[in-house]
Amino acid sequence: MAQLSPFRYPGGKSWLVPEIRRWLSSSKIAPKIFIEPFAGGGIASLIVTYEGLANSAYMGEIDQDVASVWISILNSSDEDVSWLCKKILEFNVTLDNVQKIINGKPRSIKAKAFRTIIKNRMHRGGILAPGSGLLKAGESNKGLHSRWYPETLVKRISIIRKIKRKIVFKNIDAFDLIQRFSHKPNAFYFIDPPYTIGGKRAGKRLYSHNEVDHDILFQKLASVTGSVMLTYDDSPEVRALARRYKFKIKSISMMNSHNATMRELIILKP
Ligand SMILES: C[S@@+](CC[C@H](N)C(=O)[O-])C[C@H]1O[C@@H](n2cnc3c(N)ncnc32)[C@H](O)[C@@H]1O
Repeated sequence: MAQLSPFRYPGGKSWLVPEIRRWLSSSKIAPKIFIEPFAGGGIASLIVTYEGLANSAYMGEIDQDVASVWISILNSSDEDVSWLCKKILEFNVTLDNVQKIINGKPRSIKAKAFRTIIKNRMHRGGILAPGSGLLKAGESNKGLHSRWYPETLVKRISIIRKIKRKIVFKNIDAFDLIQRFSHKPNAFYFIDPPYTIGGKRAGKRLYSHNEVDHDILFQKLASVTGSVMLTYDDSPEVRALARRYKFKIKSISMMNSHNATMRELIILKP
């Protein structure tokens, strides 16, 4: 699978791509609009447009730092993208330089995007939420350099630029994006919210924005005309919600970043 996201996103869903492919390919509806209201690293939207599984994708994300990266790559001029790529290629990774960027107060969207990319690469687990710290030993003890692949990043940005006319990014609340397409039978919603249901803490630690009313989310999705796929940690509370709104539940196993096997749920609107 092509690695296209500029982020190493905590809770990223690359491993779920085969299921997303199956879900889209099993429907004859066309043209397909893919909607990813909790976009984060956006791997699902990137892959489905890149592979032509959907004709267009709408990504939504409420976090302004994350949004600055998507706006800079998808909605900005060639000059601004060149500026960003040059900053990435020329960045000299030292603790001093990293701290200067992370503690800086960028005024433009592109400078904010650069700060977000540095933070995402240099913070443990790619975590952007307050309280997260810098990588220490890192991969093979290479410290801050261990997740810094400037050429790869620039290559991914240039691939995304090539498919950008198929992708719309909005820095908005997920519920607003869901509402916009609620009467479209050809909308395919891929929903991956922060996992904060039933006292789960992961979502709180990983994301600055993590308050989601999961009951209202299910209720809203049950009322849309299009197709829906949600993904959640397997928990009794999530299963109960899925049952209440008459969604289908499928449990699948995945390997987390610590190489431990976990069960996740895929929930589909029948
Ligand atoms: C589990 S992550 C998504 C990860 C993504 N599927 C990926 O593969 O990278 C959830 C995302 O939802 C965002 N988020 C939280 N509340 C939101 C809201 N009300 N509207 C839009 N985005 C929200 C968080 O900032 C976070 O980026």
